[in-house]
This record gives sequence, C-alpha cells and structure tokens, in this order.
Amino acid sequence: PPTYFKLPSGDKFPSVGLGCWQSEPGALSKAVAYAIKVGYRHIDGATIYGNEKALGEGLRRSGVDRKDIWVTTKLWNDDHRPEDVMKACKRSLELLGLDYIDLWLMHYPAATDTNPKDPMDIRVLDISYLDTWKAMEECLDAGLVRNIGISNYSKIEVGNLLNNCRIKPAVHQIERHPYLPQNAFMKYHEEIGLHVTAYSPLGNTNPSFSERDSLPPIQKNPAVQALASKYNISTANVLISLQLSEGCSVLPKSVTPSRIEENLRVVQLTAEDIDTIKSTTQGQRARYCDFSDIIGYKYYVGLDDTD
Ligand code: A2P
Repeated sequence: PPTYFKLPSGDKFPSVGLGCWQSEPGALSKAVAYAIKVGYRHIDGATIYGNEKALGEGLRRSGVDRKDIWVTTKLWNDDHRPEDVMKACKRSLELLGLDYIDLWLMHYPAATDTNPKDPMDIRVLDISYLDTWKAMEECLDAGLVRNIGISNYSKIEVGNLLNNCRIKPAVHQIERHPYLPQNAFMKYHEEIGLHVTAYSPLGNTNPSFSERDSLPPIQKNPAVQALASKYNISTANVLISLQLSEGCSVLPKSVTPSRIEENLRVVQLTAEDIDTIKSTTQGQRARYCDFSDIIGYKYYVGLDDTD
C-alpha cells in the first residue's frame, strides 16, 4: 500500500498516522516517541483530546527532525467564533511546542459553548462553519499551519464549504470501518478530489461506545479473520490495510508498544478481499463516534449516507 498520499499543496501526507484520542498524557508521550522510533511519521492529535502537550513532548523525545514528522491537530467546537480561531491555533502551537502545524482540521462543523463546570452542559451556537473556515484560512495565510481540512462533515456540509471557500480543504477525516463504509460518500470524495482519512479503523473497543449496539467486534468478523490467515497478519492489520487499500489514510490508535508496532504491518488487499468483508457486513451499521445527541446537531456523517 502507498506510504503517503499527495495533497493539493504538494505535501506528502503519510498514509498511516498514530491516533491519540483517549490516550492518557503520560502514556501518549511515550507512545509517540516509540511510534516514531518504529517508523511512524504522522501523529494525529486534537485540542479536545487534552494531550497536545504530551504529543509535543513525544515528538521531541523521538529525536527525529520536526520537518520529517507530520503533525495534525484539530480546532475544537468551543473555538469557532472567528475572533477565537487564531488564538486557538496559537494555543495548540504553544502546547505542542511547534512553530507550525502540518494539518489543522475543523473537528466538527458545529460551534458550541461548554459550561466549564460541566462538560456535558453544551449549548449549540449560531455560528456558521463557513465563517470559522475563513478564520482558519487566515491561519494558513499567516504560516501557522501548512494545510487546513475538515472532520465529521456530512455531504451537504462538504458541498456547501466547497462552494463558499477560498482555500479548499486538503483532507476530510471521518469515522470509517466495515460497519461504516459510507460507500456513496467515498465516491463523492473521489469525484471532488478530497482525500479521506479514516479514524477508528478497528471500530471502537471502548465499552461505553460499543455497548450501544449489539454488533460483534469487527475483529471477530469471519471474513476479516480469514484474510488475517491468508496474509499471516493480525485482524487489526487487515482492518488497517482495508482503509489503505480503499485509498484512505488511516489512524490506528494505540499506546501499547507491541500494538503500535504491529499496526504498521499492512498489505494491499485485492478488490475481491475487500468485497468479502463488505458482503459479510452488509446492512450492519455502527457509528461509534456520534455525539450529535449531545450537541443537538442535525447533519452528521452517516446520517444522510445509509449505504
Ligand atoms: P490500546 O491503546 O490499549 O493498545 P480505534 O483507533 O480504531 O478507535 O481503536 C483503538 C482501540 O483499539 C484502542 O483501545 C487500542 O488499545 C486498540 N488497539 C489498537 N491496536 C490494536 C491491535 N493491533 N489489536 C487489538 N487492539 C488494538
């Protein structure tokens, strides 16, 4: 599979990145340094993960040159007011200890205010993501970030942004695994030339999410297991390889050294391999990272894309 994808800026976007969601800061700094040591060149963070400082420490611990590592981070929903956007960007840079971000994503197309005393007390604000995007473009103009992109947009929102922006998004990061293939949405991205990054390629093993439905863990899927035997790799490797083989960059998350290393063992799956997975998960759907119920937000990836 490809080791990188070329973005519109000409930048080479490493195809496998270490995911950092739900990584404790102490564990993350070690995980990042270890990942870089075993060959990762792409780390995917976010302000809301609360571990940008640890991410930056891990980068420095690795001893590898800053310019050889791709760092992604994300603007949180509470910083969507146009006047807050550049401040948030500078705060991320400060926490990471960097003077530029390779890729900065709008984490959700939704603006919120959160009660500092109660993280579940969230109010949706009437701020257009188009205005937030304009302010992100200014951060790119100012050289604080090299690429800007989006995450968790629906098709309607992607279209609206493309029709109303000066700088096109470089990447769209969405949840993607066999229970959420979003085939029609993928085709749309191909048509408009927008690169997709897949998060949660293994589904999500966090019980608080997977308890929400009765689907078996994707690693137990018989087609996934058969492919693991065929290629003599783990089921996690099959699921990561699936994303790459379908043209997506992919973000396996782990803080466990053996898994971090294991997750780099990827193969190119054939069209037939991909079809066997698709046929066994037909009609089985799970979106693990859907918190539209919490923020009361209507248009979400997956909702208008049932295939
Ligand atoms: P851990 O961090 O303890 O290693 P996703 O990124 O798809 O949401 O999945 C992340 C979850 O999958 C984490 O809980 C992570 O655990 C676990 N995980 C990561 N790599 C593997 C692997 N190779 N085999 C099994 N579980 C894994």
